[in-house]
Amino acid sequence: MIYNIAIDGPAGAGKSTIARRVARELSFVYVDTGAMYRAMALYLLRRKTDRENPDEIGKACQGAEISIEYKNKEQIVLLNGENVTPYLRTEEVGNMASVSSANPEVRKKLLDLQRKLAADMSVVMDGRDIGTTILPDADVKIYLTASTLTRAKRRYLELAEKGISCDLSQIQKDIEERDERDMHREISPLKKADDAVLVDSSDMTIDEVVNTILQIFREKVITSEKESEQ
Ligand code: DC
Repeated sequence: MIYNIAIDGPAGAGKSTIARRVARELSFVYVDTGAMYRAMALYLLRRKTDRENPDEIGKACQGAEISIEYKNKEQIVLLNGENVTPYLRTEEVGNMASVSSANPEVRKKLLDLQRKLAADMSVVMDGRDIGTTILPDADVKIYLTASTLTRAKRRYLELAEKGISCDLSQIQKDIEERDERDMHREISPLKKADDAVLVDSSDMTIDEVVNTILQIFREKVITSEKESEQ
């Protein structure tokens, strides 16, 4: 059986940490779709594409071929054959990804890749539109969120751990701007799918969130297996 778990939510809600852990517990593959948008953003930044010019972004993105490989079960993102994974998690790339991911040409280029991965294997896929657009029939849909301040603090610690100096209030401002763009864009805006379970992780530990999702998945699978036996 192939199972798909979709985890959507705003920047810094802890999606990647949680999705990676859930995938490991279930021996599923973790698919980080944000990294694909970030690779596209890196391509556009390298080409010095004007982020205010949607036509230019739409044309420029045609030159980027994004693909995915797995090494020791970790996702590697290839941009025109180059492993760009180490360059993707900066604020500059994240902010550009938030802008360029609103472009229909950019989204069109990544949609098939994401759907194909989920059709071929059991995945935990995280992003913004997985439950609403990419995998509308996912077995489990989670909308993972947390307060803006909690998310800003988490991003701050993540960057500080990597030795990247940053300012908490600037990160909070970036997160608010990114939420605004991701939630109000015309195409595939971030929103909770009607059948997604809302999980607010502000006052939860990572283990609590992971266990909540595992329980939802197990209940769902047990119920559907019982139904198919009848
Ligand atoms: O999850 P992240 O911070 O790595 O995502 C970076 C940006 O990419 C985010 O601001 C919005 C965009 N994105 C998207 O539009 N759709 C997705 N499925 C995943 C990310």
